[in-house]
Amino acid sequence: MVQKNWTRETVRGRLSGKVAVVTGGAGGMGRAASILFAAAGAKVAILDIQQDAGENTVSEIKAAGNEAIFISTDVTNTEAVKAALAITVETFSTITNLFNHAGTIIVKPLHETTDEEYRRLMDINATSAFIVCRETLKYFIKYGGGNIIITSSIGGEKGFGLESVYCMSKGAVLQLARTIAVEYRDYNIRANAVCPAFVKTDHGLREIKELDGLGQNWNEADLHAVQGRICEPDEVASAALFLASEESSFVNGVALYVDNGWYSKG
Ligand SMILES: NC(=O)c1ccc[n+]([C@@H]2O[C@H](COP(=O)([O-])OP(=O)(O)OC[C@H]3O[C@@H](n4cnc5c(N)ncnc54)[C@H](O)[C@@H]3O)[C@@H](O)[C@H]2O)c1
Repeated sequence: MVQKNWTRETVRGRLSGKVAVVTGGAGGMGRAASILFAAAGAKVAILDIQQDAGENTVSEIKAAGNEAIFISTDVTNTEAVKAALAITVETFSTITNLFNHAGTIIVKPLHETTDEEYRRLMDINATSAFIVCRETLKYFIKYGGGNIIITSSIGGEKGFGLESVYCMSKGAVLQLARTIAVEYRDYNIRANAVCPAFVKTDHGLREIKELDGLGQNWNEADLHAVQGRICEPDEVASAALFLASEESSFVNGVALYVDNGWYSKG
C-alpha cells in the first residue's frame, strides 16, 4: 500500500484564498480531497447525505487547524443544492472551486436493469452534476471566474460489462466537464475531469465484490494486470489538487486518468 502523508507544510498555500465546494466529501476520495484542499489553504464546504461521516471529516479538518463546514445535501435535489451553495457563500463570502465528486454504482447485467434503477443512477451520477455545475456556474460568473473538477471514471470512455448504466453516467459527466471548458473559458472558468480506475473506497470495494459475485473475478492478480495495484483515495485527491490549483492554469477540458497506465495499455 502506498501511503501519502500529507502535511500542511508540503501542500501549504497551493489553494490559499480559495473556497471549495466538495460534493460527496463525507467518504472515500471526496473526504481525502476535502482534507487535502483544506490543508492546502482552501475553506471547504462538504455537501453530502452522510451527516455523521461529513461532520467527522469537518472535525478532522478543524483539528488540523483548517476550515470547513458540512451541509447535509442530497445533490439530486435542486432546491437543496441552491440552499447549500447559498450557505457556503454566506459562511465563506465566495465560491472559487467545485469538486463534483458524489456518485454511486449499480453492478448488473443491462437486460436486468429496471427503469427505476436506471433513473436513480443517472440522477445521482449525471443529473446531480448538471444541477451542481449549473448552480455553481452562476456564482462563478458573478465572481469573475472559478474552477470545476468532475469525477468521471476510466468507465467514462472504456466499456465495462455489468456496468453499462454506470459507464453511461460517467461518459455524460466527462462530456459535461469538456463542454463547460469550451463554453465558459472566456469567463475565466476552467473545468476538468478526473478518471480513476479501482480505488480503495466503500464504492470501489463494493464494486469489486459485486463484480466477483456476478462471475467477473477481480482478485489481486487481475488488478495487478490492469492497474498494478489498487489506487488509494489520496492519490486521486492529489491529482484533483493539481487541477484545482493555479499550477494547472492552462489545463482545461482534460480527462486526467488516475489509473497507473490502464487506459493507455488499452
Ligand atoms: N472507487 C472507485 O473505484 C471509483 C473509480 C472511478 C470513479 N469513482 C467515482 O467516485 C465517486 C464515488 O466515490 P468514492 O469512490 O470516493 O466512494 P464513496 O462511496 O466512499 O463516496 C461517495 C460519496 O458520495 C456521497 N453521495 C452519494 N449519493 C449522494 C447524494 N445523492 N447526495 C450527496 N452525496 C451523495 C456518499 O454519501 C459518499 O460520501 C463516484 O462518482 C464514482 O463514479 C469511483
